[in-house]
Amino acid sequence: MSGRVMARSGPPEERPSRQINIVLRNSEPPVVSQSVPDSEARSSAKVMPQNSLFADLQKELDALVGLDHIKELMYEIFALLQIASMRSEAGLLSEAQVFHMVFKGNPGTGKTTVARLVAKFFQRMGVLSKGHLIEVERADLVGEYIGHTAQKTRDLVKKAMGGILFVDEAYSLARGGEKDFGKEAIDVLVKQMEDSKSQFILILAGYSDEMDFFLDTNPGLPSRFPIVMEFPDYTIDQLIQIAEGMAKERDYILMPQAIVKLKQHLLREKVEGEHVFSNARYVRNVIERSIRQQAVRILNQYSGGSPGKLELMTIRTEDLKFE
Ligand SMILES: Nc1ncnc2c1ncn2[C@@H]1O[C@H](COP(=O)(O)OP(=O)(O)OP(=O)(O)O)[C@@H](O)[C@H]1O
Ligand SMILES: [Mg+2]
Repeated sequence: MSGRVMARSGPPEERPSRQINIVLRNSEPPVVSQSVPDSEARSSAKVMPQNSLFADLQKELDALVGLDHIKELMYEIFALLQIASMRSEAGLLSEAQVFHMVFKGNPGTGKTTVARLVAKFFQRMGVLSKGHLIEVERADLVGEYIGHTAQKTRDLVKKAMGGILFVDEAYSLARGGEKDFGKEAIDVLVKQMEDSKSQFILILAGYSDEMDFFLDTNPGLPSRFPIVMEFPDYTIDQLIQIAEGMAKERDYILMPQAIVKLKQHLLREKVEGEHVFSNARYVRNVIERSIRQQAVRILNQYSGGSPGKLELMTIRTEDLKFE
């Protein structure tokens, strides 16, 4: 799906105005403008101010490192919604869209962060009435006795109405096979998706391989989730960029030597770590720990006087401690 709508040649900030150009060009072909009365042709201009809706989302998306294909996909959905509303104003067919999604990726690759943005975006675009996110996992959906699961799942769907129900590690619902209550949760979710059409969006998230297996073994599911977003592991350079961004957000600066040390550590951790590497979440934990270490170091160092502003901001090599 990605890359079809957007012609990307300039910097990302230019996208909203380029969208306006696309809108204008689409409403201008000579054949159409000859046959459409003036008042109707002008009505397409009403849609243009909504481009600021994407500008807002774009700002938040741009704050995220990488994830370019997701940024493009969000723009495609935006364009689709804009054109659908123009088409229905022009009396053309505009099919009801289904926005249920599958998010595939390792821990800490931005799935929850993007889901929150998606919820807000759909609320602004008028697709969802509330735009909140209810994040659940197997234990929240699956009960202990017959009938319990259906009740728990229905209650959560009710809570998610007008927003997004985000099921993390969704593949675990299929873990126990036919007799497991997880299967019941899936059945209830599918039924609720159909009964309450566009009142909530369901996002199933999890590791890539497990999600592929999960979807393969539940043949009714893939067609119900037309949007699939892949969240690849971040490269070392992206992780460093994320670390610098996280430090900056908190009014800290990483010294160049600290960045070198972090880079070397991340390289080792990604390859040799015992657990699945948790990407940006790992980096966030490192930054937060280094901020605590810096506090202890400065307090010890300046027991008498007071450190300057720069010192209070600086994370040094010795502040980076890894577990
Ligand atoms: N591309 C990014 N740029 C900047 N920060 C990011 C990016 N991706 C993730 N983060 C940050 O990393 C942390 C973890 O991200 P998030 O919780 O969205 O990951 P996740 O994929 O949902 O992880 P999990 O599967 O473990 O739930 C958050 O603090 C988030 O803000
Ligand atoms: Mg998450």
